[in-house]
Amino acid sequence: MNFILNDVYNYLYFCLVKAVYITTMVCAVAVLVSFSVPNEENEKLTKEKLGEMLFFDPILSEDYSISCASCHKPEFAFADTSAFSVGVHGRLGNRNTPSAMNVASRDALFWDGRAATLAEQALGPIENPVEMNLPIKEAISRLNSSKYKELFIEVYGSAPDKENLGDALAAFEETLETSDTPNDRWLNDEPGGMTAQQERGREIFRVKGKCFECHFTPDFTGDEFRNIGLFNGREYNDSGRYSVTHNPEDIGNFKVPGLRNVAVTAPYMHDGSMKTLREVIDYYDQPHTLVPDALTRDSLLREPLNLTEQEKQDLEAFLHALTDDRFVKK
Ligand code: HEC
Ligand code: HEC
Repeated sequence: MNFILNDVYNYLYFCLVKAVYITTMVCAVAVLVSFSVPNEENEKLTKEKLGEMLFFDPILSEDYSISCASCHKPEFAFADTSAFSVGVHGRLGNRNTPSAMNVASRDALFWDGRAATLAEQALGPIENPVEMNLPIKEAISRLNSSKYKELFIEVYGSAPDKENLGDALAAFEETLETSDTPNDRWLNDEPGGMTAQQERGREIFRVKGKCFECHFTPDFTGDEFRNIGLFNGREYNDSGRYSVTHNPEDIGNFKVPGLRNVAVTAPYMHDGSMKTLREVIDYYDQPHTLVPDALTRDSLLREPLNLTEQEKQDLEAFLHALTDDRFVKK
């Protein structure tokens, strides 16, 4: 009998210990939660965070199907993998989606430079019929009858309007700068710089290839409009900068694109017509082969470069040294 009683006591004691243990754990978790919840609430919402939410939110498209990130895909340095991106109702544009990274210092936006600031640029795709196709007025009224109304008031002290919408998207884009690259480390004499092949490629980029004349540091663009010969008025019929200025000197001129992360932003050029970096290099080597009748091609591209196979490979290796660590597959 005593024996059995003992067992019962032991069992009850075990239950008690377990109950105390569980209560302690529950309390600990509750304490953690009680700390973290108000913390999250107190974390100040910034323009950048608000802009990020908007960038990924299809609320800014006619049928709630497309966000900025549908075309500017984060995993491809905020560019797209197809020549022309798909907008609302499956509509296709006629220019390749450039990277929305490293745009903070640009003098002009779009391939033809028709927007002067990021805030102005950001409203373009919302209204563009082949992109998001939503009148700005409608976008603002949608935001005003959504959770965003309070968020804008919190950040800007006023309800959503054209100005603060553009400002928030621009603020987010300005955070997308990438400088963790082998080329930057090499320039700063830090460990993890370029390979010997990439160093050779850099010399070709600078001298024999003449690339540096148009693509110079820090983002490998001088923000000029130049004509590399992808306009002949026939199968290559996008006149580029000319469509904005109507100055005959601008026929076939396009904004020199920055080259940071270029290894992950294929396809290339304003029309997405070149699929690989090798194709781009072969073009610069012999521009006349692809487009013999190009109009007003830049004089820098008058003569073929006559790069050797090794030089082409070195040049391509250098272009890979402009990729930020976050896009390098481990
Ligand atoms: C349907 C695809 C699509 C959507 C959606 C889209 N874009 Fe774009 N974006 C493009 C294309 C195509 C271009 C180039 C157009 C041109 O140059 O005429 C571009 C250009 C840009 C540029 C200029 C980059 C440069 O170097 O000149 C920025 C910045 C940008 N978009 C940001 C945005 C933002 C912000 C949104 C959302 C409000 C957005 N895009 C929505 C396709 C898209
Ligand atoms: C005369 C100025 C000029 C020179 C020289 C030049 N580029 Fe370009 N580059 C441009 C312009 C302008 C474009 C866009 C052309 C277009 O879309 O029609 C471009 C586009 C590119 C692109 C495509 C980028 C993208 O995002 O689509 C790459 C890659 C590139 N150049 C690399 C080079 C290399 C490598 C060299 C040297 C062999 C070079 N460039 C020489 C002006 C130049």
